[in-house]
Amino acid sequence: MSAGQRPGQAANPGHVAIIMDGNGRWAQMRGLPRQEGHRRGLEALRAAVRNAGELGVRILTLYSFSTENWRRPATEVSFLLGLLKRFVEKDLGELHAAGVRVRIIGGRDDLAPDIRRLIEHAETVTRDNTRMTLVVAFNYGSRDEIVRAARQLATDAAAGRLDAAAIDEAMLASRLDTADLPDPELVIRTSGETRISNFLLWQAAYAEFVFTPVLWPDFDRAAFEEALAEYRRRERRFGGLSEPADRAAGAA
Ligand code: FPP
Repeated sequence: MSAGQRPGQAANPGHVAIIMDGNGRWAQMRGLPRQEGHRRGLEALRAAVRNAGELGVRILTLYSFSTENWRRPATEVSFLLGLLKRFVEKDLGELHAAGVRVRIIGGRDDLAPDIRRLIEHAETVTRDNTRMTLVVAFNYGSRDEIVRAARQLATDAAAGRLDAAAIDEAMLASRLDTADLPDPELVIRTSGETRISNFLLWQAAYAEFVFTPVLWPDFDRAAFEEALAEYRRRERRFGGLSEPADRAAGAA
């Protein structure tokens, strides 16, 4: 328990995941094209990474493009892909210098080769950084991730490499894109929507959820701090009567 923390009160979260929502509405309210909302959303993303680092959040996971986002108009999809490319090309050096390890979660097989190369490059360059981990969920959908994990296990079982009866939660978790990451303690969604939208369904089993009306481009330091404060006011019990010490230590 840290200084100033009451018994039963949660510590600051080590892993925060964010559903960045409301770029379109932010732009619409100002009579601007949706693309301008996404451009401002990328600035908010940069600020969120900086703020997370300063606020002691060790892992930040950001939902940047879902498996469902391909259904948007082609011009918007290609704009978002362009933003991802620009983000990796322009910001990777700075992230690396700041000690940030970059991880991308989501399906890779159906991505264009240039995007795949970019993603692999970002992960390789920053692999040994330890100050903070930035997880970008791109072409990510939780159901898709779980299906891919199940397919791997079924393939191994069919080939005799594992006994189906030995499959347990830990083994399935070890086949998810997030295998090397602890679960998030806090999931934030901006823009007032109160859905999980196929994001970290398995990993967020015990997470606290904070829904804020702030639109993503306006999600600044104060909004981030307010979400963390809301988290600290909650009591986490994991289905038991009080918070188990090992979970509070970050094993959740
Ligand atoms: C939700 O706003 C946001 C997204 C679908 C994408 C998030 C993208 C960014 C923050 C920009 C950076 C992008 C990458 C790929 C690094 P919305 O368009 O759903 O907003 P609305 O619900 O108000 O229409």
